[in-house]
Amino acid sequence: MAFRPRPLGMSVIALATLVAFQASASTLTRDNGAPVGDNQNSQTAGPTGPVLLQDVQLIQKLQRFDRERIPERVVHARGTGAHGEFVATKDISDLTRAKVFAPGERTPVFVRFSSVIHSGHSPETLRDPRGFATKFYTREGNWDLVGNNLPVFFIRDAIKFPDMVHSLKPSPDTNIQDPNRFFDFFSHQPEATHMLTRVYTDYGTPASYREMDGNSVHAYKLVNEKGEVHYVKFHWKSLQGQKNLTAKEAEAVQGKDFNHMTRDLIAAIDKGNYPKWDLYIQTMTPDQLAKLDYDPLDATKVWPGVPEVKVGTMTLNKNPESVFLETEQSALAPSNLVPGIEPSEDRLLQGRIFSYADTQLYRVGTNGLQLPVNRPRAAAINHNQDGNTNPGARKGGVNYEPSTQADISASISVRYSQMPLSGSTQQQGIARTLNFRQAGEYYRSLSAKEQANLVSNLAGDLGQVKSDGVKYTMLSYFQKADANYGRALSKAVKADPARVEAMAAKLQD
Ligand code: HEM
Repeated sequence: MAFRPRPLGMSVIALATLVAFQASASTLTRDNGAPVGDNQNSQTAGPTGPVLLQDVQLIQKLQRFDRERIPERVVHARGTGAHGEFVATKDISDLTRAKVFAPGERTPVFVRFSSVIHSGHSPETLRDPRGFATKFYTREGNWDLVGNNLPVFFIRDAIKFPDMVHSLKPSPDTNIQDPNRFFDFFSHQPEATHMLTRVYTDYGTPASYREMDGNSVHAYKLVNEKGEVHYVKFHWKSLQGQKNLTAKEAEAVQGKDFNHMTRDLIAAIDKGNYPKWDLYIQTMTPDQLAKLDYDPLDATKVWPGVPEVKVGTMTLNKNPESVFLETEQSALAPSNLVPGIEPSEDRLLQGRIFSYADTQLYRVGTNGLQLPVNRPRAAAINHNQDGNTNPGARKGGVNYEPSTQADISASISVRYSQMPLSGSTQQQGIARTLNFRQAGEYYRSLSAKEQANLVSNLAGDLGQVKSDGVKYTMLSYFQKADANYGRALSKAVKADPARVEAMAAKLQD
């Protein structure tokens, strides 16, 4: 049949139909759009007979309900998110070509705060490092800075991470977290002394996400237009100040409201009391790294004495409308990098570069980066294709590159930076370990009250350890970090201080 132009009257009818459709849009429908006749009574065979399989509304409702959950994050399952904006304030084009740092540049962000070990609805009062993960929707793609509140980490090699997490999670036979298990693991990891010292202070139980700092933990690389590299650590400083709970306060809060951190953030943003953080950087040249007596690419270390420079401010000003669509489906990954920011050779970070994107392909799905919360502001243009539940709008026959029929190509100006290499492949720990010194320095920087709380918090868990060998090994690490710290802990767990001192004397930093 030949196509005939539609008379004007038809458009009016079409419009009327659309209006009629919109007017009835409040009618409950099934997922195929068909109206539902009864959503309160299943279809049965007569007044007393069985429920019928042909009740397509009942069947679909149960099927969709049965599939509501996606897997929890394997760690950092408990979290809360917020939208906001980052404003760059300092010209650092000598260090990086990243557009997010052009002075005055305003970049939308999504932040997810979290605790680490326990599951999705666990109490926020439990001692834990806290996640502070920021997705910057920059002009040149999404950059995710996936950090923690504490500035260091327990281990320095990604190969140890699954074992560490297994030891910290509830035991596979009892489903109860057990200090016997995680101190058993940590007694083989002297490099954890610094992080354990920090996590057992009251910084392990922050009062709110607003009153918490954030850190990249790792060094990354900043790369400028000339391809020159500087190593960088990032730090978020809360303009609300930092506030923690003592163990007693945390216990009291838990009895009243174990969602206190999520509730506080949502309430503050709802009231227009928008929380803010300044972003600071510390930078070093490759030559400076080599001169230090510790390995600055070791994630168990801070960089003392390296100046912190403020580069911008972030404000969180909008709560998610759907926790599931935004916070839970968000996929923040250290591999989401943009031109001008690259991974350093930190062995922990290198493992994370693989691990997050990998888990997210499983947790959120092959096409998870097309979801609104993960989609880049700059359009993604490539030939990655198909896969489960793909909502894309791909057209045409050219799904390869290079091609004479399309002018999509890589841009040589944003190639990765280059690094000279020598030597052979190997499996060996790092050379400049310095496992204990920074833990001691941190202990001595605390006030007497903070030191006392640390000792009491740590003794609470270490005191439960049944194995003498594990307990004394742990005590010797803290003793090696600082003699007063070790003595106070030994006293608190009723250990023999002479034995601890003798063991500590045999340790090397
Ligand atoms: C090799 C060491 C590590 C591995 C293998 C690892 C692995 C993971 C995995 C698999 C997730 C779940 C991601 C998801 O499902 O979306 C995760 C979440 C997270 N990790 Fe790690 N992690 C490591 C070390 C660290 C370190 C050092 C930090 C802090 C600097 C950190 C901070 C976070 C944060 C903040 C999240 C939650 C992100 C969000 O809110 O969605 N992790 N990690």
